[in-house]
Amino acid sequence: MDIRLAEVKDQFLREAAAVRNSDELASLRDRYLGRKSGLLAAEKKRVGGLAPGDRAEFGRQVNELNAEVEAELARLAAAFQAQQETEALKRETIDISLPGTRPARGHLHPITLVRHRLEDIFVSMGYSIEDGPEVETAYYNFDALNIPPGHPARDAADTFYLSETLALRSQTSTVQIHAMQRRKPPLRIVAPGRVFRRDTPDPTHNPMFFQLEGLNVDRGITMSDLKGTVQQFIELMFGPQLKTRFRPSYFPFTEPSAEFDFSCFVCGGPGCRICKGTGWIELGGSGMVHPNVLEAVGIDPEEFTGFAFGFGIDRMAALMYEIDDIRLLFENDVRFLDQFT
Ligand code: DAH
Repeated sequence: MDIRLAEVKDQFLREAAAVRNSDELASLRDRYLGRKSGLLAAEKKRVGGLAPGDRAEFGRQVNELNAEVEAELARLAAAFQAQQETEALKRETIDISLPGTRPARGHLHPITLVRHRLEDIFVSMGYSIEDGPEVETAYYNFDALNIPPGHPARDAADTFYLSETLALRSQTSTVQIHAMQRRKPPLRIVAPGRVFRRDTPDPTHNPMFFQLEGLNVDRGITMSDLKGTVQQFIELMFGPQLKTRFRPSYFPFTEPSAEFDFSCFVCGGPGCRICKGTGWIELGGSGMVHPNVLEAVGIDPEEFTGFAFGFGIDRMAALMYEIDDIRLLFENDVRFLDQFT
C-alpha cells in the first residue's frame, strides 16, 4: 500500500477511536471526506504526479480507503444513534410504581348538606318531599295564600316580576297550594327550595335564598300538633335537650300565626355569640292553615285543619357552620366551599 495512504488510514483510525459524540463525528467526516479540503481529496490529487503505470493501482487504493473511512463513519454514527436512543428511553421511562395524582373530588354544598339532613328528619317523621316551580303566577304566590291585592308583599319593590302575571316565587308557601291541589288530605309534605326577593345583599340577606316549607293537613290537626312537630324536629336536628317556644305573629295564610324559636344549640341558654346573648335562636314562621287557603284548593275547612311552617335553610346552615355572612353561601368561592368536604 502507498505509504502516505497507509499513514492517513492509521491517523484516521486513531482519531475515529477517540470520537465521543456525533458532533465530533461530523467534524471527523469533514476532515477526511470534505470535497475540497478533505484529507482524502488531497490524496486523490496526488495521482497526477505519479508515473502513468502506477495510477490505476493508486486510484484503487484511494477508493478502497475512501470506502473504509465511509464504513467506519457509518458504524460510529449508528453507534451514537443507538446510544442516544437508549438514553432517551431511560430518561422518558414512566415509573408505574410512583403514586399518581389524585383527581380532585367534588363535594356537596353546605346548603345541600343541611337540606339533606332536614329531608331525612322529616321523612323519618312521615313527611314526603314536594317540589314546586320557581316561576309562579300571582295566584300561587299570593291569591291562593290569602295575600290580598295591595298587600306590601306583592309590591314590585319586593318581588321579582317577570311579566304582568309571572314572578319568581318569594316563598315556598306556594308549594302548599300545588300539593293540596294534587292530593287530598291527609297530607304531610315538606318543600325545600329556592326563593327570590328584591333584597339588597348584606350579611343576613341575599336576593336568592332557600326555604323549607312544611304542611300537615288532616282531620283534627291542632296547634299542639304543630308545637309537638317543631319540638320533635328541633330535637332530631340539634339534640334532645333543646326547647322550643312560640310567639304570636301574623301571616296571611295562617290563623293563628306564630313565630318559633329554639334554645341555643351552642350555649343551651345562658347566651353566647351565636344567639346574640339571648339564649334563643329565631327560626321561622308557622300557624294553622287559614280556612281561606283550604277553601281555595277545595278542601272543606270544617272537615280538615292543618298546620304549616317555613324557615330559611341557609340561615340554618349559617348557624350550624357559624358563618357570619350568608352571602358566602352564594358566592361559591372555592376556598370557602372546600371547608365542607
Ligand atoms: N312564607 C313565610 C316567609 O317567607 C314563612 C312562613 C310563615 C311559612 C308561616 C309558613 C307559615 O308555612 O305558616 O316568611
